[in-house]
Amino acid sequence: MEYLLCHPMYILGGTSTKNLAGNLANRLRQPLLRTIYKRFPDDEFYVRILDNITGKDVLIVQTAYPDQKIVELLLMQDAIYDAGAKKITVILPYFGYSRQDKKFEEGEAISARAIAQHISLHADHVITVDPHKEHILKFFTVPAYSCSAVSTIARYLIEKNIDFVLAPDEGAKERAKETAELINCEYDYLEKTRINGTTVKITPKKLDARGKNVAIIDDIISTGNTMANSIKELKKQGAKTVLVACTHGLFIGDSSEKLLAADCDEIISTDTIETDFSKVSVADCIAATLLKID
Ligand code: R5P
Repeated sequence: MEYLLCHPMYILGGTSTKNLAGNLANRLRQPLLRTIYKRFPDDEFYVRILDNITGKDVLIVQTAYPDQKIVELLLMQDAIYDAGAKKITVILPYFGYSRQDKKFEEGEAISARAIAQHISLHADHVITVDPHKEHILKFFTVPAYSCSAVSTIARYLIEKNIDFVLAPDEGAKERAKETAELINCEYDYLEKTRINGTTVKITPKKLDARGKNVAIIDDIISTGNTMANSIKELKKQGAKTVLVACTHGLFIGDSSEKLLAADCDEIISTDTIETDFSKVSVADCIAATLLKID
């Protein structure tokens, strides 16, 4: 799909999202900025913009995960601002730290707010994809927007003849409902209790999954424990195939092996974090949002 922007803009693809930035540049028919990126022997990052961007609009695409990518983003923003860009739009395909969106215990940092405030320093707009909670957009001190990867993922799942969509917890129920509506099939959700960062308990529940091709949908796969436990429950209840799909595939440690060991038939994620499982692109949802705020 191609999009027509009112104002021409340069696109700066950060080191974390080169494919996505290229995809966006193609869809928007806008040039990628020429840059030099390198790391010093002590691993500090260096960026230099080679094109003249004085008075131009620039779109920076960089996922804020892991930590060093956030530092890279702040340096890219500094370089673009200092080079005299007219408007800076930051695309955060994945907004790292967004799960610490409040103080769960007294004395904690509100990490999502801290990161958002720093990114806002040299940004006119921010766009992120499927934030963990929508209210974190208010932590930016400039206008911030979100877009959803649900329809992109649903399009992929239609080809897989999915006939049942499952959310691994109540928090993902709306996502499962929207996906099921697009695929035109049934949906349900599981009861999940998080014991700690690496342990989750899925309470068994009778599902209408026997003989069906099931897709489990979530915003994030991190350790893979939520999905692995959900897959086991579905297979126990007679599901024929179980696919897992997420927007943000962090895939920490041996998470993908864990999913395959649980008898997962396919792992699907978007390119907000570029991995071997990035089978669909969020370029269209970002481009459509850009048109709305252009
Ligand atoms: C939690 O609320 C999220 O939606 C995901 O369910 C969670 O981040 C997945 O984490 P893990 O893969 O470590 O179980």
